[in-house]
Amino acid sequence: MSELLNVVGHPLILHKLTIMRRKDTTTDNFRRLLREIAQLLAYEVTRDLPLELVPIETPLAAIDAPQISGKKLCLVSILRAGNGMLDGMLDILPAARVGHIGLYRDPATLAAVEYYFKVPEDIAERLVIVVDPMLATGHSAAAALTRLKAAGAATIKYVCLLAAPEGVAALHAAHPDVPVYTAAVDDHLNAHGYIVPGLGDAGDRLFGTK
Ligand code: URA
Repeated sequence: MSELLNVVGHPLILHKLTIMRRKDTTTDNFRRLLREIAQLLAYEVTRDLPLELVPIETPLAAIDAPQISGKKLCLVSILRAGNGMLDGMLDILPAARVGHIGLYRDPATLAAVEYYFKVPEDIAERLVIVVDPMLATGHSAAAALTRLKAAGAATIKYVCLLAAPEGVAALHAAHPDVPVYTAAVDDHLNAHGYIVPGLGDAGDRLFGTK
């Protein structure tokens, strides 16, 4: 059973994250590092997948060897920055299905409005791993999880690169059944909803849009 908050502070992850945080890190390096960290987070988020023994023959002997059993996987990217973590996750979990969810915040009501939603039909039978690098206010993350549950998702894990304490608290309050995996929990959110010290706007840095 995983903890509700899993801070994956492996030295490789923290070293790569430090390079990502630097304001002068180039777009191509930022993108490559996010992919590499997603690979390492995939290792941790799948740590408790159940195994079963299957009979196999090596060139030397017949043995019962472990293979993953039980739930199939579905990765869900919260657009657009979530896409920066997808390829790294898929490097490690190549058979996973993939869903996408797009939300924007209505400037008047501040409510999360859905503009795109596509997930596998059998999502109810899958372990759903939601990816989005920055867990900031937690509002869009909570809305995404609510929408995924409405579509049938029953077992969900949430993986990000960086979290704000406020975002972790908001997500846990709304979805106490969803464990969060992150490389680090930073100090606070600023008045504009950015994580401090953070790394800036992950989507812009990933896609070079600013
Ligand atoms: N989204 C980002 O990309 N960066 C933040 O600091 C907060 C939300």
